[in-house]
Amino acid sequence: MTTTPTTPSERSAHARHGYSSLQIAFHWSVVVLVVANWFVGQGMSEVFEAREAGEPLTQWGPAFVHIALGIAIFGTMVARLLTRLNRPVQTAPDSKHKIMALLGKINHWAFYAVLLVMPPLGLIAWFTGSEAFGGLHSLLAWVLVLLIAAHLGGVIVHLILGENILRRMVRPTAGS
Ligand code: HEM
Ligand code: HEM
Repeated sequence: MTTTPTTPSERSAHARHGYSSLQIAFHWSVVVLVVANWFVGQGMSEVFEAREAGEPLTQWGPAFVHIALGIAIFGTMVARLLTRLNRPVQTAPDSKHKIMALLGKINHWAFYAVLLVMPPLGLIAWFTGSEAFGGLHSLLAWVLVLLIAAHLGGVIVHLILGENILRRMVRPTAGS
C-alpha cells in the first residue's frame, strides 16, 4: 500500500532524482531576473542616495525598474519554494562526493533565504528612507554574489570530477 508523504521527513524520503520542467523554468527565470536587477541596482543606489540627500530627482527610471524586477524575483521565489517543498529533489544524487552534495544543499537553501529576504529589506529601505535597511540590503547583494561564485565553482568542480550536473538543470524529469 502506498501513502502520500505528509511530514517533511516523509517528503524528503520521497525526494525525486531530478528537477521538473517547472522547477527548471523557475531556476533560469530567476537567473535572468537576478542578473538584470544586479545591474539596475547601481542606478537604484544613486536614486536612493540622491533622494536621501534631498537633491531634486530627474531619473526615477532605475528605481521603478529595480522595484518591479525585485518584486518579480520575490513572487517567483515564493512560487518556487512552494513547488520545491511539495516536490523535493535530491541534490547531486549521483555524485560520489557526499561533501559536494552537502555543500550544494547549503548553497541552494542560502539562495532561497537571501532572495526571499532581500526584496522586503529593499522595500522597507525605499518606503521608510532607512539607510540601515538600505545598507543591509546592499550587504546581502554582496552575499548573493559570493553564493553565485560558490554555486558556479561547485558546478565547475563537479565537471572536473567527471560529474556533469549541469544536465540536471537542463533536462527535466517526469512529474510537475
Ligand atoms: C543568479 C544565479 C543563480 C541562482 C540564484 C541559482 C540558484 C539555484 C538554486 C536555488 C538551486 C537549487 C534548486 C532547488 O533545489 O530547488 C540551483 C541548482 C542548480 N543550479 Fe543554479 N543558480 C544560479 C545560476 C546558475 C548557473 C549560471 C548555472 C550553470 C552554470 C547553474 C546551475 C545549477 C545546477 C546544475 C543546479 C542543480 C544542482 C543539483 O541539484 O545537482 N545555476 N541553482
Ligand atoms: C532579490 C531582488 C533584489 C536584488 C538582487 C537587488 C539588488 C540590489 C543591488 C545589487 C543594489 C546595489 C547595492 C550597492 O550599490 O552596493 C541594490 C540597491 C537597492 N535596492 Fe535592491 N535588489 C532587489 C530587490 C529590491 C526591491 C524589491 C527593492 C524595493 C524598493 C529594492 C530597493 C533597493 C534600494 C532602496 C537600494 C539602495 C540601497 C542603498 O544604496 O543603501 N531592491 N539592490
